[in-house]
Amino acid sequence: MKALQQPLLPGATLGVLGGGQLGRMFSQAATRMGYRVAVLDPAESGPAAEVSTHHLCYAYDDEAGLTKLAELCDAVTTEFENVPAQSLRFLQQHVPVSPAPDAVEIAQSRIREKTFFVQNNIPTNHHCLVSSSAQIDDAFSQMSGKAVIKTTTLGYDGKGQQVCNSADEMRTAFESFGSVECLVEDFVHFDLEVSVIIARDTNGQTQVFPVAENQHRNGILDISIVPARVSSTVCATAEKIARQVADSLDYVGVLAIEMFVVGDDILVNEIAPRPHNSGHYTIDATDHSQFDMQVRMMCGLPSLPVQQTTPVVMLNVLGDLILSDHFSWQALMENPQVHIHEYGKAAARAGRKMAHVNFTGSDADQLLTAVNQYKAQFPGVFS
Ligand SMILES: Nc1ncnc2c1ncn2[C@@H]1O[C@H](COP(=O)(O)OP(=O)(O)O)[C@@H](O)[C@H]1O
Ligand SMILES: [Mg+2]
Repeated sequence: MKALQQPLLPGATLGVLGGGQLGRMFSQAATRMGYRVAVLDPAESGPAAEVSTHHLCYAYDDEAGLTKLAELCDAVTTEFENVPAQSLRFLQQHVPVSPAPDAVEIAQSRIREKTFFVQNNIPTNHHCLVSSSAQIDDAFSQMSGKAVIKTTTLGYDGKGQQVCNSADEMRTAFESFGSVECLVEDFVHFDLEVSVIIARDTNGQTQVFPVAENQHRNGILDISIVPARVSSTVCATAEKIARQVADSLDYVGVLAIEMFVVGDDILVNEIAPRPHNSGHYTIDATDHSQFDMQVRMMCGLPSLPVQQTTPVVMLNVLGDLILSDHFSWQALMENPQVHIHEYGKAAARAGRKMAHVNFTGSDADQLLTAVNQYKAQFPGVFS
């Protein structure tokens, strides 16, 4: 296994697996600091490729592409959590890779994730595994009347999951997913959802970004409010749990942890082994962004203390908004509180993440009002 001998400094070449918006923002942060970036992505063009030095257009499991990436780069990371762990292991023989394949592999499977939480005393909701229709009655009866069924792999943005109020409903959902292995979870009547982005360096030192309060619409993140409107006790618990997760994984890199808040308690929902949509606020509202930190962590540089510089509300811009009748970038471009991050995707589609905008200003309540007023101009898009 190849490890870093010394920190990588500006001028070095960094590799990233995946060419979407997370790769784009990684590349923008890295190139600003003076690194060169090579993107490996099967698509011929895309958000990351258009802002990077090199684009290797190969499948994630193509050894020829992985070999080229290893030859070009001084270290490699990933923006896409479903890169085969085998590909990361292959790369690791030739070039330092972070996060470690084992950590990425845990985050790729909802059941491996839950098992990891249980084994490491990380609080999570009640769950069980089902792999056949015959197990559904028993699984549903173990929950408290309302449950969520989720495919164990490849689900994202609420896809591959369904809330169920009966065993029959769950069986239908299970079959509609192709009878693949699924996780069944208790439905959590949470007060709100939060997430924590944490950076852990090669020496095991961690820095936690401010806790984000997240609101979803149709299973997709809609807005993040930072600071989150939770007590200092809840914040401290969220940060403690984030450190516990990162330390238990012996993680190197940037890790996102999604959590449910119930009273003063926290249940961990899921983790992502990379920067996260709910951390996009950091680009305009903390002194080092989650992407800056991803660069630093893979380069073997120390994690830095992070300070929030302004209250912020992040609004995700999906294809639904772009395609709506009255949408124009102009109003957003003219608003002094708005910072636009457009991903350069070829075509807008409903549910597709096209951009995000960070509203910043001195008054957190006013920002939320401003975001809600903005959304109210597009009836049907946000309701
Ligand atoms: N067990 C649950 N109880 C209540 N809401 C849930 C539960 N699981 C998921 N959700 C809701 O669905 C959203 C998406 O689910 P999540 O497990 O995070 O999958 P994804 O990988 O699609 O983000 C969550 O952010 C939350 O709003
Ligand atoms: Mg999620």
